[in-house]
Amino acid sequence: MDYKAEFQNLQGLVNNYIKSYFDDLLKSSVLEKNLINSMAYSIMSGGKRIRPVLSLATAKVLIGSADEVMPIAAAIEMIHTYSLIHDDLPAMDNDDFRRGIATNHKVYGEAMAILAGDALLNEAFELLLKTSLNSESGMEQMIKASVIISEAAGKCGMIGGQVIDMESERNEVPAELLKQMHRKKTGALLKACILAPAVFLGASGEVTDALSEYAEHIGVAFQIKDDILDVVSTAEELGKPVGSDAKNMKTTYVSIYGVDKAGKMLRDTTNKAIDALGCFGSEAWFLRETALYIANRSN
Ligand code: IPE
Ligand code: IPE
Ligand code: MG
Ligand code: MG
Ligand code: MG
Repeated sequence: MDYKAEFQNLQGLVNNYIKSYFDDLLKSSVLEKNLINSMAYSIMSGGKRIRPVLSLATAKVLIGSADEVMPIAAAIEMIHTYSLIHDDLPAMDNDDFRRGIATNHKVYGEAMAILAGDALLNEAFELLLKTSLNSESGMEQMIKASVIISEAAGKCGMIGGQVIDMESERNEVPAELLKQMHRKKTGALLKACILAPAVFLGASGEVTDALSEYAEHIGVAFQIKDDILDVVSTAEELGKPVGSDAKNMKTTYVSIYGVDKAGKMLRDTTNKAIDALGCFGSEAWFLRETALYIANRSN
């Protein structure tokens, strides 16, 4: 199967699951309709779904099928979507356009956007905890996977990275801290997309270590590319504004190293990710190609 076809296949599985999940929420809610509409507005507005696709792809490498990790994949996409809603708020990056449409706060107002983000974060853990309770033999493993996700999303992971990002505004951070910022704000959740399924599915230490190293590199690569696209792409292509980082005087790979050197660092990081998968054979083809997709993507 070619890369694009497999990506679309996994993306389709995720989209169907998330759509039916939010259709059910909308059907069952009366008083919270505005809140759920606001949550659904952002999570159903597209997005590449790279995080859930990575979770499903990891399960396919390990056990040949993706179904069992669908709740992990969907929960991570809920957390990611909440992070985007909050990232776009006036108090943070103050952006008006996301996934090709107006940002959540532009449509629902700031208060509802904050609450929709909060509710998506809670929904993610509700889904994970209910899945743990329902998976008799895998309960402990699912709880361990959930701990990995909560740590990745929290104070020492994504939120901690967003704090470094905010503090970097108007205030250039040293190169080592820049890497930490990327590791945390974007890398941590991307890493959890791979590690949570590996732990849930009981992968061996050697396999988990290799996946972990791969995930670490693609996580940093993903944000370096995001920094580059903010400078070289167009709003039409990205579905979000370009020049947001310069507008907010952020420290990025481009602001410190320039587009060319950042591009070289991206390629080096991508190669390290692919090298980390050396202990796998052809079953890891999709993960290898995903590292290249991340480096070469146009949105
Ligand atoms: C954007 O993530 C925010 C970053 C962490 C760089 P994506 O580029 O994955 O956004 P969507 O989900 O496709 O909209
Ligand atoms: C966001 O980084 C990382 C998150 C955790 C949301 P950016 O602020 O660069 O993401 P975009 O460019 O707005 O998608
Ligand atoms: Mg930001
Ligand atoms: Mg932003
Ligand atoms: Mg960005």
